[in-house]
Amino acid sequence: MQDRLGDIEKEALKGIIASKTKEELEGLRVKYLGRKGILTGVLKGLGNLPKEERPKVGRLANEIKARIERALKERLSGLSEQKGPRVIKGFDPTLPGRSLRLGHLHPITKVMNDVCKIFEGLGFSVAQGPEIELDFYNFEALNIPPDHPARDMQDTFYVDEKVLLRTHTSPIQVRTMEKMAPPIRIIAPGKVYRCDSDVTHTPMFHQVEGLMVDKDVSFSHLKAILTYFAQEIFERDTKVRFRPSFFPFTEPSAEIDIQCVICKGEGCRVCSQTGWLEVLGAGLVHPQVFRHVNIDPQVYSGFAFGLGIERIAMLKYGINDIRLFYDNDFRFLSQF
Ligand code: PHE
Repeated sequence: MQDRLGDIEKEALKGIIASKTKEELEGLRVKYLGRKGILTGVLKGLGNLPKEERPKVGRLANEIKARIERALKERLSGLSEQKGPRVIKGFDPTLPGRSLRLGHLHPITKVMNDVCKIFEGLGFSVAQGPEIELDFYNFEALNIPPDHPARDMQDTFYVDEKVLLRTHTSPIQVRTMEKMAPPIRIIAPGKVYRCDSDVTHTPMFHQVEGLMVDKDVSFSHLKAILTYFAQEIFERDTKVRFRPSFFPFTEPSAEIDIQCVICKGEGCRVCSQTGWLEVLGAGLVHPQVFRHVNIDPQVYSGFAFGLGIERIAMLKYGINDIRLFYDNDFRFLSQF
């Protein structure tokens, strides 16, 4: 029996080595290892052998089976190498490819979208204006007189005497009111530029401007809308505080603080121990601004507000250096 098995193996291996095609090889596999194959037959017939011989012959038959299988496999890959596409050693073309990492939005874009969504839900639509702006729209039409400190060369990037990089999104208020008659309800997201750089300032940053003009728009509308906004973008129970302030293009003006998101009003380093963080500037549109765009301040009133996106993103995500947003460090950006 053992001799017969030895002969079967020799014959099989000879055939495998000599085979020239995959089909031929498959024929050999069926001939020896198939359900009705020669070796399979031997294994099936084990039961007829004397008891003491069974384990020994069984083991040998299984070893031979494994050797034939290995030879078939090796020959098959040898044949594929000759005929099929070139196979690079150590490279398995049947493995699934490495999947691409999915990109995602920059945290600033994300917060910008969130802010816009909240106001769009209140019926505001999105307006836009140029980043390279005329002095007239950035300052003059907003009731900022020529000697106002905001015009100081230190803050504004001038292109020439009359052209500059907009320092805020408020010029879009003027451009919108020039084109559109009340009722107006717009927000204007965009990049703005100021010559300033430290942990809380970058020369380019993002603002969202808001403007609502209609008959009988009052400060209480402004208060309600901005309180709603703060509680949507931060937490539902966020406390909001309106402080009197000054902007040349609004009267009265206010700065809006939220209760510090870090210490919840206890006082910490982020809020300089005050418990409050300033997030918005706002006010009722100054009659002088209305006059520049031929809207009658006796008939119409309105409010405007402006908020800094970077500041909101820093508070939302607990980021303590604004410059991180623009370093393009993948380790930072991939956390959002
Ligand atoms: N434009 C102001 C700023 O950049 C913010 C503001 C907008 C204030 C609208 C009042 C009304 O600081």
